[in-house]
Amino acid sequence: MSTEPILRTENVRKDFGSIVAVDGVSVEFYDDEIVGIIGPNGAGKTTFTNLISGALPLTDGTIIFDGEDISGLQKYKRVRRGLVRSFQIPQIYDEMTVFENMQASVLSRKQENNRLFMPTIRDSASVSETEQLLELFNLEAHADDHTEHLPHGVRKVLDVAMSFALEPEIMILDEPTSGVGSREKNAVMETITEAAVEQNIGLIFIEHDMELIRDYSDRIIALHEGRVLADDDVAAVMESEEVNQFILEGGV
Ligand SMILES: Nc1ncnc2c1ncn2[C@@H]1O[C@H](COP(=O)(O)OP(=O)(O)OP(=O)(O)O)[C@@H](O)[C@H]1O
Ligand SMILES: [Mg+2]
Repeated sequence: MSTEPILRTENVRKDFGSIVAVDGVSVEFYDDEIVGIIGPNGAGKTTFTNLISGALPLTDGTIIFDGEDISGLQKYKRVRRGLVRSFQIPQIYDEMTVFENMQASVLSRKQENNRLFMPTIRDSASVSETEQLLELFNLEAHADDHTEHLPHGVRKVLDVAMSFALEPEIMILDEPTSGVGSREKNAVMETITEAAVEQNIGLIFIEHDMELIRDYSDRIIALHEGRVLADDDVAAVMESEEVNQFILEGGV
């Protein structure tokens, strides 16, 4: 495991009026681990990851990425540094094929901005990078398919693959398998986590399905009412009395 955390939050807080959605969260993430975030509805999971990505401003606290304070940094600048939230930056265009969507994402990074544009420049570097990413995510067979016809799980994988084109150090996924049929969920998680391990990219994923959490996380952070209830390896969190009382028994 890496010796230094790539990402650290210190006493991070978010208020919405009188609601304290995130209440003093201090946690660390490494660039070579997969961390599952669990907690009941309203626990603050999405808000917490929105604070990390810069989608929401902090009420209080500090976020350190790669040794630097990024607490006030704009979202797109965090993306450039390698802190990427999926289902956020790249949009899938239904009138384009899987290959064209993927290439647009590769080109958007090469242009050093986050705006997508039609991939009219078919330079060989972007073509080979696009092919590599499609292979990494087992999408080669779908390369020429228009995305509107893709099975839902494949579409989710494409969305994550397009975020990988932005070359993250760490990637945040909020319920990556939501809306995916239960039989397809494992395949989606398997593909995403294998790609992350192969590319040495850290993953933070929010998930309600405890089987997926158990099967694909190295570590679990359990949130409850905006606070960290547990932060440990999978077995320890699953056995934690508080996690069982507040989260598992109530359903997540
Ligand atoms: N934009 C907002 N304005 C006001 N309150 C908000 C806003 N976003 C979230 N909240 C509140 O903050 C708390 C945490 O919400 P959040 O969406 O982060 O929870 P969550 O753990 O992601 O829940 P879920 O499992 O349902 O996705 C909740 O009480 C929610 O109602
Ligand atoms: Mg949420």
